[in-house]
Amino acid sequence: MSQLKPILSHLDPIIPSSTGKFKSAPYAFHRVRFHPRLTLWSFLLLFFVLLLFFCSPPAASPAGKRRSLHTLSPNWEIKARNSAKGGGLTVLVTGAAGFVGTHVAMALKKRGDGVVGLDNFNSYYETGLKKARKSLLERQGVFIIEGDINDGSLLAKLFEIVHFSHVMHLAAQAGVRYAMQNPNSYIHSNIKGFVSLLEACKNANPQPSIVWASSSSVYGLNSKVPFSEKDRTDQPASLYAATKKAGEEIAHTYNHIYGLSITGLRFFTVYGPWGRPDMAYYFFTKDILRGKEIKIFQGAARDFTYIDDVVKGCLAALDTAKKSTGSSSGGAKRGAAQLRIYNLGNTSPVPVGKLVSILEKLLEVKARKKVLQMPRNGDVLFTHANVSLARKEIGYNPTVDLETGLARFVKWYVSYYASKKKTV
Ligand SMILES: NC(=O)c1ccc[n+]([C@@H]2O[C@H](COP(=O)([O-])OP(=O)(O)OC[C@H]3O[C@@H](n4cnc5c(N)ncnc54)[C@H](O)[C@@H]3O)[C@@H](O)[C@H]2O)c1
Repeated sequence: MSQLKPILSHLDPIIPSSTGKFKSAPYAFHRVRFHPRLTLWSFLLLFFVLLLFFCSPPAASPAGKRRSLHTLSPNWEIKARNSAKGGGLTVLVTGAAGFVGTHVAMALKKRGDGVVGLDNFNSYYETGLKKARKSLLERQGVFIIEGDINDGSLLAKLFEIVHFSHVMHLAAQAGVRYAMQNPNSYIHSNIKGFVSLLEACKNANPQPSIVWASSSSVYGLNSKVPFSEKDRTDQPASLYAATKKAGEEIAHTYNHIYGLSITGLRFFTVYGPWGRPDMAYYFFTKDILRGKEIKIFQGAARDFTYIDDVVKGCLAALDTAKKSTGSSSGGAKRGAAQLRIYNLGNTSPVPVGKLVSILEKLLEVKARKKVLQMPRNGDVLFTHANVSLARKEIGYNPTVDLETGLARFVKWYVSYYASKKKTV
């Protein structure tokens, strides 16, 4: 402390003698004499602060890297315009680097529609898989913009340069259990992000028609099976389900006030190639192959729905969507607009134990199983879809059974991770 005294004494002249009386800068500088030790330590401190600032990695936030217009590649507009070229619909697919988004974007492009993707590539699960899906889409001519649906200026610019006829909104914070760790990521993407996207759609000229992913989880504690669109959905068992239910109510509001044509699709446990590593069929496969014990919850069964069936349902919803009726300035609607909600399931629930025995057969490895009571973490015990409304109104007809679908998944899984190993 005594060593500091002489150093501090040099600074005395620039400290005001009384509050509110700051001496002018030239006077202060005139009186300061630089102490060699102080100067050396100040420079060292500044050097380390700058080093830390420039070398520290960006916070890996599952909510996603925020990309503003300023950080996007300079030719993103040209790439988006080219990607949007096509003979049929012009579709913005949000969550395009995700599991369902990749498959839907690919199917649209293959049949000749214009497609532009948007995804924030967040780190909720391995970003390498999202990047690999991006490369797959790029090879088909689909460009994915790396951005967040909460970025209003990016969305406004995008809707200005491309006149989207439809938006297929699949970006979301998915997963039920993760909500106990990071509840805000669900609010960020599923509520704030959805409102931000609907605002952009409402202001767009022309207004697009919107098809978006809700979830079977909205049925929550409903025990009447199979789940029908008429059943109650006011007892969510998880925050994820609550945000999807909130999305359905928000959709109603934007439809009612602004005339946006909106279709919500309640997906039931979608699985398949390029799937999601946080889902049981995926991490069971990984753990069985590694000889790691897997936990099976007693009595749990799911209406597993193969990705190709879900994709057909999404495309049918897009094709049958009527136009939005809102005005070009984003003002009041010019007439009532379409508002729909459909279950997209498989209609045949399978016990999770059966799923494991199919995987054992396909992988030719015996699983190390531990059967437990289901913990209270937001999961529900049983899902079963009634799809008669979707069948009647959009021609939805699921055809792939679990054995066939899992065989395709396992084939993809083995070749994807084998090729990854080769490149490491
Ligand atoms: N897969 C299923 O079984 C299932 C079941 C019910 C509902 N859903 C819903 O279907 C949709 C697609 O699910 P999925 O399985 O493909 O999930 P996914 O996590 O693979 O895909 C979602 C994508 O959205 C992106 N994203 C998240 N927040 C974003 C944001 N704020 N801005 C931009 N991009 C963002 C993510 O990076 C991810 O690539 C989601 O809405 C999900 O809730 C899926």
